[in-house]
Amino acid sequence: GSSPEPPRHVLDVDDLSVETFHDVLDEAANYEHMLAAGNPHRDLPEHTLGMLFEKPSTRTRMSFETGMTQLGGHAVFLGPDATHLGHGEPLKDTARALSGYADALAIRTFDHASLETIAAYADVPVVNALTDDAHPCQALADVLTLKQTFDDLADVSVAWVGDGNNVAASFAVACAMAGVDCTIATPDGHGLPDSVLERAAAVGSAPTVTTDFEAAISDVDVVETDVWVSMGEADEKREAFDGWTVTEDVLEAADAKFMHCLPANRGEEVTDAAIESERSLVWQQAENRLHVQKALLVELLS
Ligand code: CP
Ligand code: NVA
Repeated sequence: GSSPEPPRHVLDVDDLSVETFHDVLDEAANYEHMLAAGNPHRDLPEHTLGMLFEKPSTRTRMSFETGMTQLGGHAVFLGPDATHLGHGEPLKDTARALSGYADALAIRTFDHASLETIAAYADVPVVNALTDDAHPCQALADVLTLKQTFDDLADVSVAWVGDGNNVAASFAVACAMAGVDCTIATPDGHGLPDSVLERAAAVGSAPTVTTDFEAAISDVDVVETDVWVSMGEADEKREAFDGWTVTEDVLEAADAKFMHCLPANRGEEVTDAAIESERSLVWQQAENRLHVQKALLVELLS
């Protein structure tokens, strides 16, 4: 699927303009309503999404594949060990070969640089399906969740507590794009890179950064967290997060909703009671992956 125009890649949320970011969220809400009403919306007939994943996935794989089916297209999933990658074929060759078949690529890698290499050589749009540095599809789904839950994003405050990881990075930049007041609270040494804070400032305002868990959650509408040890990281890392568990008491004291991209590690970053409580928005977040990714693919391919 080559075209004369250079392809538009989404390696993180701020590869979209603020205007397009909002358009994608509006279209995602449209797709949600069309699906609920049973209205067909085959906006990508005969289109194929190539999916190249170096890491496991439940939600991302299922939502992209289901989304392509609903759009009248098709997705091909190439999981860890399914390809010649890692067995001698370079990324740049894989990227060019896949571009010849697929209309777009969704890529999940460890190194963000691997994704950048694929994007540099692919002549179809490349979407980041999670790297060690970023998770833009999750950030879009999370902002859609906030829009569905609160009347006006300008009045919403969120606290990210725990690890300043890939999901936190994209979330902080997305909050800046959406005008959501965001605090990132992490133990010392686990904060977001300065480059992420600068990118947030460039598209809105940089998040408030703190190492004080109590202060971060004292007066917020939403508390979001994620696993303390991401895929590919060393287990010893979890020791830094003693005392950072989100409990029902924490949510009640703040009178806050709870968000988590999943999969969750119950008993570590969140208790079972907190994630199962009425304050929890996690299933809505997970479903929203479907709606935002459909809108994003249609945006990139039209
Ligand atoms: N939230 C998320 O990306 O989940 P998976 O790893 O299951 O795709
Ligand atoms: N931070 C987690 C997110 C998984 C969806 C990880 O990278 O493993």
